[in-house]
Amino acid sequence: MGDHEHEAGPRPAGTARGFTTRAIRASHRLPVVDQPPTSVPIYQSVTFTAADAAELGAVANREIPGYAYGRLDNPTVVAFAAAVAELEGAEAGFAFGSGMGAIHAALGTLLSTGDRVVATAASYGTSRALLTGVFGRLGITATFVDMTDLGAVERALAAGPTRVLYAETIANPTIVVADHVALADLAHRHGASYVVDNTFASPYLCRPVELGADLVVESATKFIAGHSDVMAGVVSGSAALVHRVREFQVDTGASLDPHAAYLAMRGLSTLALRMDRHTATASALAGWLERQPGIDRVWHPSLASHPQHEVASRVLDHGGGMLAFELSGGRAAGRAFIDALTIPERTASLGSVFTIVAHPPSTTHRQLDDAALAAAGITPGLLRCSVGLEDLADLTADFGQALDAARAAGPRDAARVSEDAPQRAPAVPAPV
Ligand SMILES: Cc1ncc(COP(=O)(O)O)c(C=O)c1O
Repeated sequence: MGDHEHEAGPRPAGTARGFTTRAIRASHRLPVVDQPPTSVPIYQSVTFTAADAAELGAVANREIPGYAYGRLDNPTVVAFAAAVAELEGAEAGFAFGSGMGAIHAALGTLLSTGDRVVATAASYGTSRALLTGVFGRLGITATFVDMTDLGAVERALAAGPTRVLYAETIANPTIVVADHVALADLAHRHGASYVVDNTFASPYLCRPVELGADLVVESATKFIAGHSDVMAGVVSGSAALVHRVREFQVDTGASLDPHAAYLAMRGLSTLALRMDRHTATASALAGWLERQPGIDRVWHPSLASHPQHEVASRVLDHGGGMLAFELSGGRAAGRAFIDALTIPERTASLGSVFTIVAHPPSTTHRQLDDAALAAAGITPGLLRCSVGLEDLADLTADFGQALDAARAAGPRDAARVSEDAPQRAPAVPAPV
C-alpha cells in the first residue's frame, strides 16, 4: 500500500522527500537549451517564478520586465501580439482570447458612463450588440451612421460630444470599404478617438494605424490565423493606449491561451501568401459572377462597379477574399443556391482555407421578413462569400451548377416562400 506517501508529520532530517513531492519537482525541471529554437515555444505555464518576493511584486506591477501570471502576460502570447502589431505598423499590441474580447477591451478602455460612440451602420452584429446592449446598459449611447457618407458622419459627430468613432475596414453586408484617412481626420477634429475593426482586411490589405486610426482591433480567428481552428483577437496602437488596454484586460480576463497564440502565429507566417491567393481567386470569381445570368449585383473591392472602388484603391493594398452578390430570384434562389453547393462549407465565420458561403436571409437572419431585412441592409437574395484557397475552376464549376439550381428555384418558389417565411416577431440575428 502507498499510505506511507501521505505522512502527516515532518520527516526526520536527511530522509528523502516523498514520491509525490519528487514527482512534482522532477516534472517541472526546465531543460537547458543553448540553441535558440526556430519556432516560438508554447510557454504552457500560467505561473512564472521570481528570485524573491520583492522581484515577483515588481514584475507583477510592471516596475521591471518579466512574467508573473498568465492573465497578465505570457511569452508566447506576447510574441504573437508583438508580431501582429509590427505588421499593423503600430507601436504595441495586446492579444485576447477572441476578437470580441479585443473589441470589448478596446472600447471599454476608452468609454465611460455618459460617453457617446458614433459607429458604422454596417458593423458586425455582435459588435453592434456590444455597443447597444453591454455598453448601453452602462449609460453609453451609440449612434449608427453610413460610414461611406462622410457628411452624415460629420453631422453625427457634430450632434454631441463623441468619445469614439468606430468603423470596419471592410464590412457586411455589401463589402463596404471605409475611407480611414477621411474618417480619422473627422474623428480627431471632433475630439474623438478613431477605432477600426480590420478583421475582413487583415494587416496585409490595410494598416489603419498608418492611416490615422488610434486603435485597431482584429479577430485573429479569421484571416490572421486562417484555418478555422483557433480563436484569438488583437488590439494594436500606440504604446500608451495599448498599455491602458492591457490594464483593462488584466481586470476583465479575456486572456489568450499560449497554445492558441502559437497556432495563430503559425497562421500569421503565411498570411501574405494566403491573402494573395484569396484576392486572386475572389477577384476572378467576382468578375465571373458579374457575367452570369440571374445575378443582379456583385460586390468586391477589385470591381470597377464597387461603390467605394476609388476609396479601396487608396486604402487597400489588395482586394481581399470577401465578396457578396445578389441573386435576382430573392430568398428562394438564395436558399437553393446555398443548398446546391458542393465545395463551400455551409457554416459561419470567414477567412479560412476553405470557401464559406452564407445566405443571411435563410440562416442568421431567417426570422426577419423582407422589410426587416432591408432595415438591416440585407436584400433577400444576398449571399456573402469568404473565398478560400481552392482551385478557381472548381469554384466556378460549383457556383455555376448552384446558379442553375437558384434560377430554377427563384421565380417559381418566390410566392410560396414569402408566404411561409416567418413574418412576425423579428428575432435578434444569430451572432455569427
Ligand atoms: C468583423 C468581425 N469582427 C469581430 C468578430 C468577432 O471575432 P471573434 O469571433 O473572434 O470573437 C467577427 C466574427 O465573425 C467579425 O466578423
